[in-house]
Order: sequence, then C-alpha cells, then structure tokens
Amino acid sequence: MKCEAKKIFNCMHTSINIRKSVTLFLLLPSTLLILTVVFLPLIQIISSNQSSSEVYAINTLNNTTEETRKCNIFSGHWSPYPEGPYYDRCPYIIEHLNCIKFGRPDREFLKLRWKPYDCELPLFSAKEFLRLVQGKSMAFVGDSMARNQIASLLCLINNGPYYSNETCPFITDKQNCLLHGRPNKEFLQWRWKPDECQLPLFDATQFLKIVKGKSMAFVGDSIGRNQMESLICLLSTVARPEDNTVKRGLDRTYRWWFYPDHNFTLALLWSPFLVKSSQGYYNDSSNFLLPENLYLDEPDQAWVSKIEDFDVVIFSGGQWFFRPLTFIQHGQVVGCQKCQNNTDLDFYGYRIAHRTAFSTILNLKGFKGMVFLVTHSPNHIENGRWNTGGRCNRTKPLITVEEKAAMHPYGLEELHQIQREEFREAEIEAKKKGLHFDLMDITEAMVVRPDGHPNSYWHAIDKNITEINDCVHWCMPGAVDTWNEILLFKMKTLISSIK
Ligand SMILES: *[C@@H]1O[C@H](CO)[C@@H](O)[C@H](O)[C@H]1NC(C)=O
Ligand SMILES: *[C@@H]1O[C@H](CO)[C@@H](O)[C@H](O)[C@H]1NC(C)=O
Ligand SMILES: *[C@@H]1O[C@H](CO)[C@@H](O)[C@H](O)[C@H]1NC(C)=O
Ligand SMILES: *[C@@H]1O[C@H](CO)[C@@H](O)[C@H](O)[C@H]1NC(C)=O
Ligand SMILES: *[C@@H]1O[C@H](CO)[C@@H](O)[C@H](O)[C@H]1NC(C)=O
Ligand SMILES: *[C@@H]1O[C@H](CO)[C@@H](O)[C@H](O)[C@H]1NC(C)=O
Ligand SMILES: *[C@@H]1O[C@H](CO)[C@@H](O)[C@H](O)[C@H]1NC(C)=O
Ligand SMILES: *[C@@H]1O[C@H](CO)[C@@H](O)[C@H](O)[C@H]1NC(C)=O
Repeated sequence: MKCEAKKIFNCMHTSINIRKSVTLFLLLPSTLLILTVVFLPLIQIISSNQSSSEVYAINTLNNTTEETRKCNIFSGHWSPYPEGPYYDRCPYIIEHLNCIKFGRPDREFLKLRWKPYDCELPLFSAKEFLRLVQGKSMAFVGDSMARNQIASLLCLINNGPYYSNETCPFITDKQNCLLHGRPNKEFLQWRWKPDECQLPLFDATQFLKIVKGKSMAFVGDSIGRNQMESLICLLSTVARPEDNTVKRGLDRTYRWWFYPDHNFTLALLWSPFLVKSSQGYYNDSSNFLLPENLYLDEPDQAWVSKIEDFDVVIFSGGQWFFRPLTFIQHGQVVGCQKCQNNTDLDFYGYRIAHRTAFSTILNLKGFKGMVFLVTHSPNHIENGRWNTGGRCNRTKPLITVEEKAAMHPYGLEELHQIQREEFREAEIEAKKKGLHFDLMDITEAMVVRPDGHPNSYWHAIDKNITEINDCVHWCMPGAVDTWNEILLFKMKTLISSIK
C-alpha cells in the first residue's frame, strides 16, 4: 500500500473528497445510446467504433478481454459454478424479483455460469467496468427487461452499504434510520476518498485475522458505541458475537462481546467523561441538563479497572461535555461551565479530562496495547437548538467550499484542536515507552456529512417526540462505517510498522 497512514487524512482540507458511488449516473439522461441486452457486447460495440475516446477505453482493457473478443461468446452452455452468485444482498434488487426473499426454495439457479465453447467468459469486475465507463453515460432503451438488467448491473457494481438493517441484527434501534421511515437514502451512497490514495474497503475476514486471540475496547460514550456497533455489523457477514455483558455482571451502559471462533473480545467501557464524575446522569431525566461534578485529576475507574489486558483501546466520546459542569482538582473547585454567570462552554474540563486519561494509560503497568483516539464527532443542528426543534434534515453532503464555510458545528474547532494537542503530547510520551498511539482524525471528514444523522428518524413515528432530533449519532449503515475502514487501515499500518 502506497498511501501511508498519516496521509489518509491529508486531503481533508481540499474541496471534494467524498465521492458518490458511481451507480446513479446510469439512471441519468445520457448522450450515448447503447442498445444491449447482455453486458459483454457493449465492449464489442465500443471496440468497433473508431472514435478516439473509445480507443482509449479499449486500451485500458486486459488481455482476457482481447481473447474473449475473438471468441463467439454466444455459443456455449451453462456450467456449475459453486462460488456463485456475485451478491446475495443488494439495495437495488427489484422487489418482486427478489425470489429468495419470497421463499423460492431451490438455489441451483444461483450456481450456474455461462461457458462459451471457445473461451472463458471473464468474471464481472466492477473496477474494470467503472474504469471503462468513467466520464461516460449509458442508457438502456426498452421495457421491464431493461430495468431488470439495470438492477443487475447496479448490484454488480454496487459499492454501497456493506450491510442492511435486514442483514445485521446489531443495529441499535435509535440508529436504524430506515426502520423509522427515513425516506432519503442517498446518504448510503457516499464513500470517503483520501486525496492521495484509496481507502481500502472493509474486509471482515482480514480484520478478524488481525484480532484473533486479542481484545479491543472502546472507551467513551454512545458515539464510541455507534462505531462499535458498526464494526459488529461489518463483521457480521463472517462472524457474530456472543453477548457476555450480563454474564460479566456489567450494567447496561457497558457492552461485552465475544467472538468464540476468533477468541476476540470486543467491549464498550462506558465512561462519558473519561474522568471520575458525580454520575448524576444515571438519574438524569431532564435530558442532559443536570449539572455534573468532574474530578479532573482522577481517571474513571469504570475503564481504568478493566483496561490493562486490552490489546487495542479506542477512546471515543466527548459529547457529554456540553452540560453544566463543575471542575474539581486536588479536592478543590477550580472552575465551572454553564454555571452562575458563566454560560459559555469552558473547554478546560475537556482538555484536562483527555490529559488525565492519556497519562493514566501511559503509566499503567503491564499495559502493552495500541491506543487510538477518535477525534470529535461533529453535531449538525440547524434551524434551532437541540431542544427547540433544531434539525439536521439535509440530504446531501456538503460539497462546495461555501457550504462548508457556512457550517459551524458547536465548539468544533476548539474541541478538535484540544484533542489534537493533548494527543500529540501523549504520543511523544508513548514513543519513549515503546507504546503505539495513533489518531483517527475523523472530524473534518464528518463535518461535511450533516446528511448522516438520524434527525427525526430515531423513534417510531407514532411517538410524539418531534421536538428532539438526533443530530449527534450516525445512521447505520452509513457514514460511521467509514471509521472502521479507517480503523482497519490504521491497524494494518501500525502492525506492518512494528514488524
Ligand atoms: C486488468 O488490468 C488492470 C490494469 O492493467 C489490472 O489492474 C487488473 O488486475 C487486470 N484484471 C484482470 C482480471 O486481469
Ligand atoms: C498481454 O498481452 C501482451 C501483448 O499481446 C503480452 O505481451 C502479455 O504477455 C499479455 N499479458 C498477459 C497477462 O497475458
Ligand atoms: C429495514 O428498513 C425497512 C425500510 O427500508 C423497513 O421496512 C424494515 O422494517 C426494516 N427492518 C428492520 C429489521 O429494521
Ligand atoms: C484466547 O486469547 C487469550 C488472550 O486474549 C489467551 O490468553 C487465550 O489463551 C486464548 N484462548 C485460546 C483457546 O486460544
Ligand atoms: C440514583 O437515584 C437512586 C434512587 O434515587 C439512588 O439510590 C442512587 O444513588 C442514584 N445514583 C446516582 C449515581 O446518583
Ligand atoms: C453575576 O452577575 C451579576 C450582575 O453582573 C453580579 O451582581 C453577581 O455578583 C454575579 N454572580 C456571580 C456568582 O459571579
Ligand atoms: C429543512 O428544514 C428547513 C426548516 O423547516 C426547511 O426550510 C428546509 O427546506 C428543509 N430541508 C430539506 C432538505 O428538507
Ligand atoms: C404532538 O405534539 C405537538 C406539540 O407538542 C402537538 O401539537 C400535537 O397535537 C401532538 N400530536 C399528537 C398526535 O399527539
């Protein structure tokens, strides 16, 4: 892999860096009309045309196709293909053609491939197809047969969501936006594209190989849980975990999963402030308004007492620092936020809490794990505040410089800056101790995704809580899956740098 771990985020300050999956262009009005029933003749049509742009397209093809071109691919037979089919779930399948869903019992029709007599018909390569049609347009002219083929083509080149609410049972209800009737699905069709490389697709098998016999803990709040549940869904096609939370006597804020076949433990250690707090929030029915005391120099035992043996620790949280807080250090009150006459956010508590968490893990005897910090996940509340009907109803990522400049999630720059500064300091210490710290700096990538939150689609429509919209968490599947693509990429990079 050419792109180094650090470079993966270098692109974040440039104009367009999320790419829509190319699938939709097929449905757009087009200039190039191709009447075709089977995909391969398309190549033949293009290759017999002499215009220079098509010649370019042909030059990008492989030898296999050259061979195939000389072969009569229409003369042949159907032969067994045990590896089939190409896909078993795809959001573009036309409802009434979803035969398996409607109970078709036999599967043999999925395990046959066309075999021309004189050659092999190459496997469909989405990558190759997309290279060929880049910058072009294509129209099918016809009837429902054409629609049938278009749906097939969309599924073949589909690089959309890895899982759906139907295939993954681990989606928290409140993040299951489609279940709650979210009509706009465009948010599923974007992928993060670093300027200097490709972010590899998430590979569940590879991930499980890396973590075999290991343990991973997310330390933080429901944003950490959001990412952990995305990870479980991404892995769910290959393996599913046992829930050992209750068995281990942990309360409902924790999660403790175990993958028996891979001897892999995946936990969420609930600690919304990272440091000790008065935990008034356990009894908070006032929706995040109850004041909390933070003991900034005392790390929260909720995670410290359990963390020593973990191989990978991912700090991810920080959403709880917006409420009224009193800061205590060395047994003395040293300041407060949203208190008395001080209504501003006082970033002091946020900074020191991170500092305390990092120095604690750095000084933990016996700890040898990798440490990641997932940086601040931006909220996107517009047209009001979170409790006065504010919403995040955009349906597209922010693309233009103007749009980005106009979006100012609360506290964004300060929180992000503080995390980066405190983490850099910790990283220097970590190097001296031979520990591996790495930043997952997702903030800038997520600022442009106001379309990715549940908004009002986090509760049943019949529940009358329209006043509160969730512009904090991320719909699943959705943009949060990218964080795990980045996690896998970072882990691979770290492991290869250690070897
Ligand atoms: C076709 O050629 C491209 C570029 O030369 C290469 O990356 C790709 O792997 C090849 N595909 C096959 C199926 O050989
Ligand atoms: C592809 O074709 C070129 C020229 O015909 C040949 O030199 C090369 O060996 C071929 N490559 C493969 C992988 O068949
Ligand atoms: C998944 O989402 C669809 C809407 O796209 C909904 O009809 C269905 O009930 C959901 N299923 C689950 C299990 O959440
Ligand atoms: C499972 O992994 C743990 C370390 O996380 C190790 O101590 C234990 O021996 C492993 N068990 C098996 C059966 O491999
Ligand atoms: C929450 O309230 C219960 C009953 O009122 C009390 O026993 C408990 O100590 C409280 N917990 C916290 C963390 O304040
Ligand atoms: C708050 O502000 C008012 C008016 O400026 C002042 O009289 C009061 O002493 C202040 N209270 C505190 C606790 O600082
Ligand atoms: C979002 O809500 C605002 C305020 O009600 C409205 O003006 C705007 O058109 C909505 N945007 C979308 C994309 O629905
Ligand atoms: C829901 O709440 C709003 C405002 O609180 C109220 O106007 C509306 O009548 C309620 N709708 C239902 C179905 O209860």
